[in-house]
Amino acid sequence: MSSALDRLLVSASHARPGLAIHTEIALREAHAGDESGLAPITPGAVIVARDADDVSAVLSLATRERVSVTPRAGATGKAGGAIPDADGIALVLTGLDRELEIDAGDRIAVAGAGVVLAKLREAARAQHLFYGPDPSSLESATIGGNVATNASGPSSLKHGSTARWVRGLEVVTGAGTHLAMPSRVSKSTVGLDLAQLLVGSEGMLGVVTRVFVRLEPAPERVALASVSLSSLESIGPALVAIDRAHVAPRAIELLDDEALSTLRAARTDHALDPRAVAILFVELEGSEHGVDDDLSRLDDALSPIAIDVRLARNETEREALWKIRRDTSVALKKSAKHKLSEDVVVPRSKVGALIATARRLGVEHGVRMPSYGHAGDGNLHVNFLWEDDAQRPDVDRAMAALFREVIALGGTISGEHGIGRAKAAYLPLAHDPARLAMQREVKRLFDPAGILNPGKVLG
Ligand code: LAC
Ligand code: ZN
Repeated sequence: MSSALDRLLVSASHARPGLAIHTEIALREAHAGDESGLAPITPGAVIVARDADDVSAVLSLATRERVSVTPRAGATGKAGGAIPDADGIALVLTGLDRELEIDAGDRIAVAGAGVVLAKLREAARAQHLFYGPDPSSLESATIGGNVATNASGPSSLKHGSTARWVRGLEVVTGAGTHLAMPSRVSKSTVGLDLAQLLVGSEGMLGVVTRVFVRLEPAPERVALASVSLSSLESIGPALVAIDRAHVAPRAIELLDDEALSTLRAARTDHALDPRAVAILFVELEGSEHGVDDDLSRLDDALSPIAIDVRLARNETEREALWKIRRDTSVALKKSAKHKLSEDVVVPRSKVGALIATARRLGVEHGVRMPSYGHAGDGNLHVNFLWEDDAQRPDVDRAMAALFREVIALGGTISGEHGIGRAKAAYLPLAHDPARLAMQREVKRLFDPAGILNPGKVLG
C-alpha cells in the first residue's frame, strides 16, 4: 500500500469513527471489476460510505493526499467506469439507501444514491406512479449510478434517459465540498443547471449522494407487438411507417439477421418467426382503449411492409417476447469465445445504414458483427464476436472503423453505456480539441487535485 493511501486511511478512521475501511484482499478483489469485460483492477482499499459526510471526509482527505477515488455501487456499468486504480480507493455508495420518499402529490421521488432502481420503480408503482429509465440492470443498479452514467433502456425512446427525469441532486465534489441542488419543482430558470452537468459525468466531477427525480402517472396498459421483416432494407421503411401511424411507442427494439440466426442456433425454444430476417419489438402504453386503437393503427401501418405483426395478448406472452430480447446478449456470448458489445448511436434514419456498415466491416475484418437494441433511438448494440485470440488487433481495427463511420453518419460512439475506461481513447474521435479542453477545465473546477476517477472518459 502506498504511504499516501496509508495516511489517508488512518486520518479517515479518526475523522469518521466507525467508517468501514477494508484492506483485506478478498474485499478488495470483490470491488475490482464491473460488467464491461475489461480486466479488473484490485484497489488499494475499499471504503463503504454510510452518508454524505463520510463521502466528503474521504474526498477531502484524498485531495490532500492525492489518492484516486473511484465511486461505485451496483457495478453494472459496461464501460469500466467503476474499475478502480491499484493504488486508489473503491468508494462504495450502496449504503446510502436508507432514504426513499415518494411524494405522490408533487410527483417526485427523493432517494439516497444507493437505492436500487427496481426498488424506486416499485415504490412509485405502489402509488400508481412511474419512473421511466429501465436499463436491463435495474435489479442491481442504483439510482446514483444511473445518474452518474445517464442510464437508459428500451423505453428511453418515449421517456428519455435519466437526464430527463432528474430534478435535483446532492453531490460531493472532488475537494469534498457538499453541493446541494435540491429541487421539487417541475421548472426553474435560476442560474446554471449544475445538477444536469453532473448527470452522465461518470464519477469525474463529484459523487452523487442524494437524488430528486420526477415521477409520472403510471400508464394503465402496456402492450407489445413483434414485427417480422423479410429484409434488413425494410427496417428503415418500418420505422417511418410507425412514425406515420401516430402511436408514439415507448420502445422499438431490433434484432438483426445475425442476432436472429444466433438465437435460432442456440435453440432457445423461442417462438421466433422462421421467415424473419429482422424483428422489431414495438411497445405501446396508454389507456386500455387508447392502446387497442394504437395497436390497430400499428397493424395497418406495418402490414404493407412486414411479413407478420404479432401481438402479445397477455402479460405472459409479452414477457416471453421480452425474454427473447433479453436473452440475445447471453446467446451471443455463448456463441463465440470472445464478445465485445458497443452501444453506438446514429440519427434514426441511419439505422439501416448502420447495420449495413456493421455487416461490411465484419466481412472486411473477419469478425462476426450482429446488432440488436434500441432501433427507435438509433442506438444499437453492435457486437464483435471472434474465436481466435490472435484476431484481437482486427477487432480493434473494426471497432475504430465503426466509430469513425457512426460519426460520419451524424451519430456518436456511445448512446447508453458511457465512455468510462473502455472508450476513453476514442473520445477525441467524437469531440474536437476545444470541446475536450473545456471539459478538462470543468473537471478542474470540481476536482482540483484530479483524484476523482482518473483515466476515465477524459483520459
Ligand atoms: C441492453 C443493454 C446491454 O440493451 O444495454 O441489453
Ligand atoms: Zn441497451
